[in-house]
Amino acid sequence: MGNRLVHRAYDLEPGRESLLREALAGLRRPQKELPTKYLYDERGAGLFDRICKLEDYYITRTEASIMEANIGEIAKCLGRLVALVEYGSGNCKKVRHLLDHLDDPVAYIPIDISREQLLHVAEQLASDYPDLEVQPVCADYLSVLDLPASKRPARRRCVYFPGSTIGNFEPAAAQFFFKHIRGVCGRTGALLIGVDLQKDPAVLHRAYNDREGITAAFNLNVLERMNRELGCDFQPARFYHYAFYNPGQGRIEMHLISRHAQTVRVGDEAIPIAAGESIWTESSYKYTLDGFARLAAAGGFKTERVWLDEQQWFSVQYLVPD
Ligand code: AVI
Repeated sequence: MGNRLVHRAYDLEPGRESLLREALAGLRRPQKELPTKYLYDERGAGLFDRICKLEDYYITRTEASIMEANIGEIAKCLGRLVALVEYGSGNCKKVRHLLDHLDDPVAYIPIDISREQLLHVAEQLASDYPDLEVQPVCADYLSVLDLPASKRPARRRCVYFPGSTIGNFEPAAAQFFFKHIRGVCGRTGALLIGVDLQKDPAVLHRAYNDREGITAAFNLNVLERMNRELGCDFQPARFYHYAFYNPGQGRIEMHLISRHAQTVRVGDEAIPIAAGESIWTESSYKYTLDGFARLAAAGGFKTERVWLDEQQWFSVQYLVPD
């Protein structure tokens, strides 16, 4: 991998075949869909970083303010000599604040699907935190069963899953995810997780339909990725971004709507798409505190602590195996 500080990366990045297989399976369904994880190629990850800085997207700054206000208590919950595992580490910016306050953390294991970004930021972190063993794993979260062992023994493993990425899982998949985390962390482990909460739909609408059009570009980018990596012939200008809050389901749905009747080539298949038909690219569930506690309990976790912002828009939660 051509660097000195990060000695080892587990590379399970999904290849072209799984992209093609999963894309085709989604596009053959009556409600067309594309897997959400494919929004995050290098350009998509960059656009997502820009979304996080938008005035309209309250999630990142609200979570950061909760972390800032409660970092002492949070670090105390995680305790000494922890191996910190971050699922979907992205640009690894958020974890720095946590690492700065943890008591002698042993290892940091960032897991992400976007290989270039993962290796780049892992290298930077390793150089900024020389006492910390940084062990990047390039993978789809749920495919990782064995995590690399640290040289210095850790007292416990804690998973950090910020940003309300849990909201991008269907509830059944979220439950499966909790069980998976339990398996990865064992009985002594813990989960520190950011969870977005239900609120005025107007606030949600603005966050996913930002005035600068970055979310729209992020959504449409998946079509460009399919063209580049699979040789498809999507014309992004023939689609538009559409995101709305579905109150019955408690989720934002993000779609790409076809402006015209058209046929798109994906692998060896010609996929017909009607005018006005949608390709569903993402759900972002918004929870109540009780609803999330029930979901976590069904996945084998007990809610120990919850920290909120003043408006109660977002929560950071510390969960332990039940
Ligand atoms: C990563 N995830 C929590 C974001 C969200 O808010 O659901 C992804 C996103 N989609 C559109 N804007 C941001």
